[in-house]
Amino acid sequence: MAKARIAVIGAGLMGHGIAQVFALAGHDVTIYDSVAASLDSAKARILANLRDLGDDQSAVGRVRPCGELNEAVRDADYVVEAVLEDLPLKQRLFVEIEHHVRPDTILASNTSVIPITSIMEGLRDRSRALGTHWWNPPYLVPLVEVIGTRWTSQQAIDWTITLHSDAGKSPVHVKKDVPGFVGNRLQHALWREAIALVEHGICDAETVDTVIKASFGRRLAVLGPLENADLVGTDLTLAIHQTVLPDIEGRGGPSPYLEQLVADGKLGMKAGEGFRQWTPAQQQELRTRVLTHLKKARS
Ligand SMILES: NC(=O)c1ccc[n+]([C@@H]2O[C@H](COP(=O)([O-])OP(=O)(O)OC[C@H]3O[C@@H](n4cnc5c(N)ncnc54)[C@H](O)[C@@H]3O)[C@@H](O)[C@H]2O)c1
Repeated sequence: MAKARIAVIGAGLMGHGIAQVFALAGHDVTIYDSVAASLDSAKARILANLRDLGDDQSAVGRVRPCGELNEAVRDADYVVEAVLEDLPLKQRLFVEIEHHVRPDTILASNTSVIPITSIMEGLRDRSRALGTHWWNPPYLVPLVEVIGTRWTSQQAIDWTITLHSDAGKSPVHVKKDVPGFVGNRLQHALWREAIALVEHGICDAETVDTVIKASFGRRLAVLGPLENADLVGTDLTLAIHQTVLPDIEGRGGPSPYLEQLVADGKLGMKAGEGFRQWTPAQQQELRTRVLTHLKKARS
């Protein structure tokens, strides 16, 4: 793809990493954040990542922080939003962005789970609006889910998929705009059962994680569940489901166990305790372990 002008709105965890990927792919990137500290540190964070990964550090020269939204988006071919997961905020932002961009600029949201239809409902032209759901860290996890609404043009979807595949990502097309898209629906179906196993006293939280990491988790990166079902046979899969599915958690809302953790202030690592207790050293060890694994998978 020819060099494009990309605007990234939100310079947080996801925004600066998305800007890094596009700059490394040779595009000119503007980045905007309403919080000066976040904007001011974006280039330093990108440079530190590039250095750590052994990527071309000159790419950071293609990233231009902008203190005004208008300035960041006015020349853009493509705008991707990565601000807080807050529907009214995203809605307001896109209505404002639409005032400043060209009629053919494609507008994307990196929301984790909010339907794109809700985010983009206030736009005058919804045919150029879509979702692109990246995974953290954006420069190490390949997948980007490209989500169209019933209004999105095929041309906008095709252009966005090419933009991401040419930048080295693995885009997939999600054809219906459902909450959580594909990846987070699958992930949180697993988390629902993981929490239920602890809630019902079947095992403790550490055991849940050990079971996954030491068994099917080992295969998951190279063997998807439907490949696996075909491998063992759909007949065996049916027999297993007849026994197991009636017993698996199917509740249509969050677990009361999870709600109680939150009510008790057990908010996870940031509080030192969630499902498990975490010392600062244990937290650091986990973060290093994940990053090391993802870096190895990339090479
Ligand atoms: N963290 C993840 O693992 C992950 C993965 C995929 C998608 N997402 C989604 O990406 C989005 C961003 O998440 P994050 O983890 O980067 O959050 P973050 O808190 O690290 O960053 C959000 C940034 O948005 C900025 N911001 C807030 N209001 C703004 C405004 N009006 N204009 C411009 N900037 C504004 C904040 O200052 C902050 O820098 C969310 O929608 C989130 O659900 C997150």
